[in-house]
Amino acid sequence: MTRKAHVIVVGNEKGGTGKSTVAMHLVVSLLSLGASVGSIDLDARQATLTRYMENRRRHAGRGSPLALPDHAAVPPTENAAADEARFLDVLEWQRSRHDVVVIDTPGSNHPLSRLGHSFADTLVTPLNDSFIDLDVLATVDPDSMKISRPSHYSEMVWETKKLRALRGERTVVEWVVLRNRLSTLDARNKREMERLLGDLSKRIGFRLVGGLCERVIYRELFLEGLTLLDLGEGSGVEMSLSHVAARQELRRLVDNLGLAAIMKGEQAAQG
Ligand SMILES: Nc1ncnc2c1ncn2[C@@H]1O[C@H](COP(=O)(O)OP(=O)(O)O)[C@@H](O)[C@H]1O
Ligand SMILES: [Mg+2]
Repeated sequence: MTRKAHVIVVGNEKGGTGKSTVAMHLVVSLLSLGASVGSIDLDARQATLTRYMENRRRHAGRGSPLALPDHAAVPPTENAAADEARFLDVLEWQRSRHDVVVIDTPGSNHPLSRLGHSFADTLVTPLNDSFIDLDVLATVDPDSMKISRPSHYSEMVWETKKLRALRGERTVVEWVVLRNRLSTLDARNKREMERLLGDLSKRIGFRLVGGLCERVIYRELFLEGLTLLDLGEGSGVEMSLSHVAARQELRRLVDNLGLAAIMKGEQAAQG
């Protein structure tokens, strides 16, 4: 039986929300669960995930046993049709060989990003805990502090579901929104965000999962190509209490996304 990997797309039409950081952590979490993982970077301008992978390969080359996915970058060119064909080739290749494929997307409404979104079995949207970020998902009426209507990204997600239906594929896409860079201060803003996201999740059909706190470590890991899962003995970075807490957050996120169950399902289907 040919494999058909579970596809996780990490997307949000806004830059700097933590897409690439989350994508990298999901890839390494899946590898640590024993999955065979492919990853695709559709954000050619920043190429954060690709550079993160290069840094990881370099680190591994110095003798650290670091697991790596089968990574491919698909940078857009002047020729949109050729880009689309190249992406579909890479995706087909990876889907037929791995358990899971993780796709990182740019913070803009690019045709290649929309196409990538249309292949999501699970869509993960990291969102910074601010009203500016929420605006990408929904317009909030500042007087009543209620959701007035879904915004462009929510509509784009809806459109990509239709694209999928047109291809005759299963349209059950699990959309998960995760709050990133949560501050331990600012309790009022946090509560308001929680209430609005709770309302919105019912309205536009996503699931809200526990997020990741704001921690300096995420910025430091990039250059070494490491994730929270690689810290400790032999990594060159000692574990602190904050790192232990961060790792617990990540584990909770992986549990909430049901990655272990997804993998079991994929492997059973292929067996
Ligand atoms: N939980 C976090 N705590 C602190 N910094 C973070 C966190 N998540 C992401 N960052 C930092 O925020 C910046 C943007 O993250 P990135 O993953 O590149 O976002 P995107 O891919 O959405 O543009 C990076 O400098 C990254 O290290
Ligand atoms: Mg990015």
